[in-house]
Amino acid sequence: MCGIIGYLGKKQALPILISGLRRMEYRGYDSYGFCVFNKDKEPFIHKKIGKISRSEELSNLTVEGTTGIGHTRWSTTGAVTNENAHPHFDCDKNIFLVHNGIIENYKELKEKLISKGHKFTSETDTEVLCHLVEENYNGSLEEALRKILKDIRGTYGIALMSKKEPQKIVAARLSSPMILGVGQNELLVASDPSAIITHTRQVITLDDNEVAVLKPEDFFILKEKPMVSIDWTPEDAQKKGYEHFMLKEIMEGPETIENAIRGRLIPDEGTVRLGGLDSVRNRLNKINRIVLVACGTAGYASKIGKYMLEEYAGILSEAEIGSEFRYRKPIIDKNTAAVFVSQSGETADTLAGIGELKKKDILTLGITNVVGSTQARETDAGIYTRSGPEIAVASTKVFLGQIATLAMLSVYLGRQRNMSLVMGKRIVSELARVPELAKQILENKEQIKAIAEKYKDFKNFWFIGRKYNFPIALEGALKLKEISYLHAEGGASGELKHGPLALVDENFPTIAVCPSDSVYDKMILGVEEVKVRKGPVLAIATEGNERIKEIVDDVIYIPKTLEMLTPMLSVIPLHLFAYYIAIALDRDVDKPRNLAKSVTVE
Ligand code: AGP
Ligand code: GLU
Repeated sequence: MCGIIGYLGKKQALPILISGLRRMEYRGYDSYGFCVFNKDKEPFIHKKIGKISRSEELSNLTVEGTTGIGHTRWSTTGAVTNENAHPHFDCDKNIFLVHNGIIENYKELKEKLISKGHKFTSETDTEVLCHLVEENYNGSLEEALRKILKDIRGTYGIALMSKKEPQKIVAARLSSPMILGVGQNELLVASDPSAIITHTRQVITLDDNEVAVLKPEDFFILKEKPMVSIDWTPEDAQKKGYEHFMLKEIMEGPETIENAIRGRLIPDEGTVRLGGLDSVRNRLNKINRIVLVACGTAGYASKIGKYMLEEYAGILSEAEIGSEFRYRKPIIDKNTAAVFVSQSGETADTLAGIGELKKKDILTLGITNVVGSTQARETDAGIYTRSGPEIAVASTKVFLGQIATLAMLSVYLGRQRNMSLVMGKRIVSELARVPELAKQILENKEQIKAIAEKYKDFKNFWFIGRKYNFPIALEGALKLKEISYLHAEGGASGELKHGPLALVDENFPTIAVCPSDSVYDKMILGVEEVKVRKGPVLAIATEGNERIKEIVDDVIYIPKTLEMLTPMLSVIPLHLFAYYIAIALDRDVDKPRNLAKSVTVE
């Protein structure tokens, strides 16, 4: 995926493009580039490898022009080079274009174009779009684009402009996000709201197969779109004094849980109000099976959701990995509901399952953080986690929001079935306490930092947990590996003796997530198996458990709560553990190598 921005208005375009790209850099940062129509001169184009936030030469650029497009790249096709950076252009340097996605049939298209004499300057798939538009251009940029899109196989979010129509930007989308921002005498296009919320919060989300045409004081789209108002403020998308977005977002964990539950708990009735499900309430009453579909961290939240739904709603549930689910032949019938969980709402592997199931009239729900995202619009109904913008590539606070939302969904469905008033009240009242309990853990962040620094020189880590904390072990391992680049594996504690124990020695620490719950004694068996083989052990344990100090090397305590709600607490030390180790190793915590915030391609 990548970040796209386009501006057309009365202000100078360049600073708007640069600040927008900087806000979207977390979406991909191999290289960056922009093109501004430079008053009466030749279009100004500048593109380079590296992060725009690290670029020093930008302040020396002087370009006058009020129309421009920009791009920050996460390469899929073509090496990370200046030539492969976007914008790309056609033979005559009339068409300038930026793209998010993959043109799957670009090779055959490129061969045809070269046989017709087109000269390419890059290795990318994207550049074929420029030459195709050039081939079909007859004075209308949007008409030329619409003609060629029929020949394209793959995914795209595109913004392009033509030297022959300098007061116009055209945008289009298929599977990759693209929004249109409508300001005062100015129009913007972007991949996500963070790039444009300082200019306008009135946005229109482009749908698949739609083309937007932006002209001075006017725009049109092939079909009318409801405008949604983004409830983020520009400050929300900034660091607010923290060194990294990731630390800011970890510290926002308690507030994120509060946002997720605010106005949704009904303590007296021991249930919850989920307005986004009102339209499908009756259908939900009939389902007897739930399939959760997600990727990465959202996938681990889904695994926790599976346990919750089975134990508290009494519904057979399974958590599927999006990239696997999309190519299987799942046995699903009309009594099944599919729940898609995604922070961005744009993850290609997660979205892929929606369309197929809707064709079979299967009920699809979305648990999503980004308002107006593809997932939010394509599912039949859903629940917003309301976590605010999550900028760091490593997901932290939204993971908490997802678990809180899944806990509420379990109560909602459980109270439609056999969950008692007493049990409902117990969960709801305890859920309301979790933000405060989470704050208590964060107050010990310096102690967690000190422990993390003790472990920073190890090269391998094993994370173990059981039941509700098995997915937390997986999440802890993912967080550590994705920002520190150290090898970390998560696993079910009971699996240790079936092989992984062979890895354990004094150089291979184990992080054991072992709160005082229904499987604590079994967890301690695993911990002791590690200790007798000289493996260092860091335990996440419940306050008051003094005995564990005699067994393990280090302990980070968390407050006591209901077993099903513990994951929102046990994960916080692991997020901080990963963060502080990555800092100690001088990693780029917010934008780790090789990754991107939202994977909108396969
Ligand atoms: C999480 O830290 C990772 N960045 C990644 O696994 C992420 O959770 C995954 O790509 C899913 O993203 P989504 O929630 O936006 O769908
Ligand atoms: N496939 C295009 C390229 O590799 C776009 C990648 C992106 O989405 O950033 O340049």
